[in-house]
Amino acid sequence: MSNPLLGVPLNELRERTSVKWREYPPDVLPMFVAEMDVRIAEPVQDAIVAAVRSSDTGYPHGTAYAEALAEFAGRRWDWDLAPDQQTSVADVMTGITEALRLVTDPGDAVVLNPPVYAPFYDFTEHAGRHIVRAPLGPDGRIDFAVLEAAFKHGRSGGRRCAYLLCNPHNPTGTVPTRTELEQVAELARGWGVRVVADEIHAPLVLPGAVFTPYAQVDPLGLVLMSASKAWNLAGFKAAQLIAGRDAVADLRRVPELVSHGPSHSGVIAHVAALREGGAWLDELLAGLAENRALLQALLAEHLPAVRLIPPEGTYLSWLDCRDLGIEGEPADFFLEHGRVAFVRGPVFGGGGAGHVRLNYATSPELLTEGVRRMAAALRG
Ligand SMILES: Cc1ncc(COP(=O)(O)O)c(C=O)c1O
Repeated sequence: MSNPLLGVPLNELRERTSVKWREYPPDVLPMFVAEMDVRIAEPVQDAIVAAVRSSDTGYPHGTAYAEALAEFAGRRWDWDLAPDQQTSVADVMTGITEALRLVTDPGDAVVLNPPVYAPFYDFTEHAGRHIVRAPLGPDGRIDFAVLEAAFKHGRSGGRRCAYLLCNPHNPTGTVPTRTELEQVAELARGWGVRVVADEIHAPLVLPGAVFTPYAQVDPLGLVLMSASKAWNLAGFKAAQLIAGRDAVADLRRVPELVSHGPSHSGVIAHVAALREGGAWLDELLAGLAENRALLQALLAEHLPAVRLIPPEGTYLSWLDCRDLGIEGEPADFFLEHGRVAFVRGPVFGGGGAGHVRLNYATSPELLTEGVRRMAAALRG
């Protein structure tokens, strides 16, 4: 077993047909969307190949995903998660929409923490809820005074209100501590706000930080988890909607049709990842920690004016490029002049201007090349 980030040469990556490798022309180095430059874990490959070879390609059945996730959660996070606290959904964003439907009515408020994963805005509005913004502090962490003001605003007129928490946070890579999550739960309880936590990045917490499952501190919490991010399985659709101990009755109200979402092959892949992909994940986390240090060193050497909050989790890094003196959005500048693609800061909502999100789940060589391209673009 070795670092999964070292295994795939660039020419092979360029043969991939997913969005990361097809969105831009071949002279652009893609460091934008959250896909990893890895070969997926062998036990996952084996499970998928075995299913295809035996034409086991029908509809999903049973509770294998719920059981595998419960076992994984017990091993990794000492979380006593029962299979009957879970239901399967197509993917995390679909699950978030269903969770918001359980705890709010059309027209009610959903509190978000800009800068945050861009689809949170679209999916919330598509579900007919309106957004109340509670921006993170400059350290990328929850500002509790701002959060409380947002809860108060959301609850005005006695309306229901939900808080969509990103734990760990995309794009800043911050991981809320247990104390912070307890404070969230206390505020939510006090204001009668229901918390929906997106924990898709949960297995991707790097050495130095500790992941706390939100439902451990809030029995009314609703949580979304999936193996898709940590094992690079976005193409194999499946995720779990999880209820805290006192929210299981809410879960029973999820319409039956929602269970039609996850694909059978998705469930097979995710179950293999959770049951047999632990060693691969540990190698990945070690590689990501090395890349995090490399990124910091490269920026300090070549682009000292770029500020970053060292990410504690995810494989995403939020770069504050406002001191570079670039006119317009840095992501547009780096794409045009450096042929390297990042996500534009403004898509993450208020406070994102002048920032880019960089994906460092790649080889050290390509990470170095990405920073070299940034520096070259600035030299002109
Ligand atoms: C925080 C967060 N939530 C959700 C998703 C998407 O999840 P899914 O493809 O399961 O809807 C992503 C993808 O990167 C993400 O970063």
